[in-house]
Amino acid sequence: MTITDLPDALASSGELSVWPASTTPLPHGDLAVGGVSLAEIADRFDTPVYVLDEGEVRDRCRTYRAALPEAEVLYAAKAFLSRALVRWVREEGLGLDVCSAGELELAVTAGFPADRIVLHGNAKSPRDLESALRLGVGRIVIDSPSEIARIAAAVGPGGHQKVMVRVVPGISAGGHAKIRTGTEDQKFGLSLADGSAQHAIARVLGLPQLELTGLHCHIGSQITEVKPYLVALRRMVGLMARIRGAHGVVLPELDMGGGHGIAYRPGEPALDLTALARRMRAELGGACAAAGLPVPRLVIEPGRAVVGPAGVALYRVLAVKHTGDTVFAAVDGGMSDNPRPALYGVRYAPRLLGRHSTAAPRTTTVVGRHCEAGDILASDVDLPGDIRPGDLLAVPVAGAYQLSMASGYNMVGRPPVIAVHEGTARVLVRRETLDDLRIRDIGD
Ligand code: LLP
Repeated sequence: MTITDLPDALASSGELSVWPASTTPLPHGDLAVGGVSLAEIADRFDTPVYVLDEGEVRDRCRTYRAALPEAEVLYAAKAFLSRALVRWVREEGLGLDVCSAGELELAVTAGFPADRIVLHGNAKSPRDLESALRLGVGRIVIDSPSEIARIAAAVGPGGHQKVMVRVVPGISAGGHAKIRTGTEDQKFGLSLADGSAQHAIARVLGLPQLELTGLHCHIGSQITEVKPYLVALRRMVGLMARIRGAHGVVLPELDMGGGHGIAYRPGEPALDLTALARRMRAELGGACAAAGLPVPRLVIEPGRAVVGPAGVALYRVLAVKHTGDTVFAAVDGGMSDNPRPALYGVRYAPRLLGRHSTAAPRTTTVVGRHCEAGDILASDVDLPGDIRPGDLLAVPVAGAYQLSMASGYNMVGRPPVIAVHEGTARVLVRRETLDDLRIRDIGD
């Protein structure tokens, strides 16, 4: 095999299956994403650095719109939010799901129409509600009984606010116990089984300033099967039918939340969006017909599946160490920019970037630079046996819940986010500097 054959071999091997669709191999083991060399990004912007493929995000938004043209698609901002992302999502015709005054204010000040935003949260602060009402947020999702009176009082007797009620349909789904939200034993929503959802709905319907537009559920995250959504949907339609029977009210919306699973490593399953759309549509039509209900407008809230696969994290190897049987490659980032392996045991597929190695693969554990033994980015992955300090490692599927969950641990500073699109790179979020860290520290 010659050097020029190598890129094609790489592309056809399936190794790039979890990378952005724009990814193309370049000479010397480099890769281009969005038409920009990743090795050049690492040189120009330093490491660690996060790269976000604008075209991939936009394509994923369009895929959702095309799969469910009759539905309202809300991007779940908690996966990652920046002003540019707000614009892309708006231009692609999606709405937004936010869960704090911070996400809400960032979106609205970046030009997102507030009436296309839905506010979530199991513990909304006075500031969250004040922002929501002041900015005119589209809908507020009620998550606990005590919120009903709070929102009604904040709206005032002559006011008006659209709300939904978050229902726990009693379904267990999701990639990890910490992200399963469809069952009774967790903090979100109001139970269908014990009647607290029905009770809250009756109270909301009795308050003229609150307009109940529909019900909401979010059964979990990183779900790769269609079935749990169908079961949840049937239970939600059942509840809508009971509401009609008890109160004579036909709710126009049904929000089935997000949670659509993606592959982090080649060969892993992902939720099939086409199948989800087709089967949810059929299930909704069938269940509503059986209950004699008009079909409500479906709302969905994908976060991870919109941005996750559009992101790539780039790190520089700082040290390589053999300890017992383990080879550790330590990089210049870690759990402060990606806490997901430590939190959920998620496995990633890092690869060497920027040079070809002919060394045989060797099982290597990629660790971060933080002062904690659990600071592992990828355990037991195959990397070339000659990995050395100065090498670049690229981690695909880095766009969701990494930087949005980043921390200030060890005062390392959070990495920048660089957008790549049609051959150009631009900074969306700059690197956090020591000055940024110092500026908040105002005591002595
Ligand atoms: N809607 C609601 C009400 C949610 O709570 C969430 C996610 C979503 C939509 C979007 O879910 P997605 O489509 O992104 O799975 N930090 C975890 C994920 C937590 C998800 C929280 N809620 C992780 O890194 O896997």
